[in-house]
Amino acid sequence: MDIPYHLAIIMDGNGRWAEKRMLPRIAGHREGAKSVRRVVEECRRLGVGYLTLYAFSTENWGRPRGEVEALMRLLEQFLREETPQMVANGIRFNVIGDMQRLPEAVRQEITAARKKTADCHEMVLTLALSYGGRDEIARAARRLAVEIEEGRLDSQDIDENTFSGRLDTADLPDPDLLIRTSGEKRISNFLLWQLAYSELVFSEAHWPEFGGTELRAAFEEFSRRKRRFGLLRAKTEKGLSVGGR
Ligand code: IPE
Ligand code: IPE
Ligand code: MG
Repeated sequence: MDIPYHLAIIMDGNGRWAEKRMLPRIAGHREGAKSVRRVVEECRRLGVGYLTLYAFSTENWGRPRGEVEALMRLLEQFLREETPQMVANGIRFNVIGDMQRLPEAVRQEITAARKKTADCHEMVLTLALSYGGRDEIARAARRLAVEIEEGRLDSQDIDENTFSGRLDTADLPDPDLLIRTSGEKRISNFLLWQLAYSELVFSEAHWPEFGGTELRAAFEEFSRRKRRFGLLRAKTEKGLSVGGR
């Protein structure tokens, strides 16, 4: 079985999982947090190098205030509780997205988790928080514009590499595999630039039901794919990434 070097997941279906059980949506998010623990552990065990989880989109700010606040509290609690485990398992914590929009308490937990896991080397866990691919691309363009204004960059030097380097994912390779749970078959503004040549696998399981079995099924499907990157022969190395770094 080929293991993706960088796995990205759109964790979808918490609300539907809860509604099916006549529970409030937040109960689904709480159960979803347990899935995150399981999947992080399993990915590390299987040798995934980078795991990137879509946890909260720029569009999700438009949900009812009660749900947004509950999600932010859950996030804060998750980071506080999981950081010691990440340190123990050698997992380096990272975030992408517009951090400025997050509540101060969440930002503090993020900073603490990043600091405490800075020397970890087993796997990089990135949470996409207040993240939108279009927003990320717009912010990267703004960074480039400022560098040109300040005379640090020549517009002629802008190419795919300089652009990639200004994205939130500058230090991450492109994903080899994207999994979306809960049966929806769309990108929903996740990693628009970075997914150019990723394999896409869709799982019918709602995120709270997603575990080791579903993960391995997705890796089996990934193993059967032939990645060509626009060339004529399939690349045998499945964990190979193009673009990015
Ligand atoms: C995914 O579950 C988690 C977030 C987007 C925060 P949803 O909350 O989107 O659950 P569904 O898709 O409504 O079932
Ligand atoms: C995508 O799920 C965002 C996250 C999983 C964080 P959504 O539930 O927000 O996306 P749509 O509305 O189904 O496209
Ligand atoms: Mg959803």
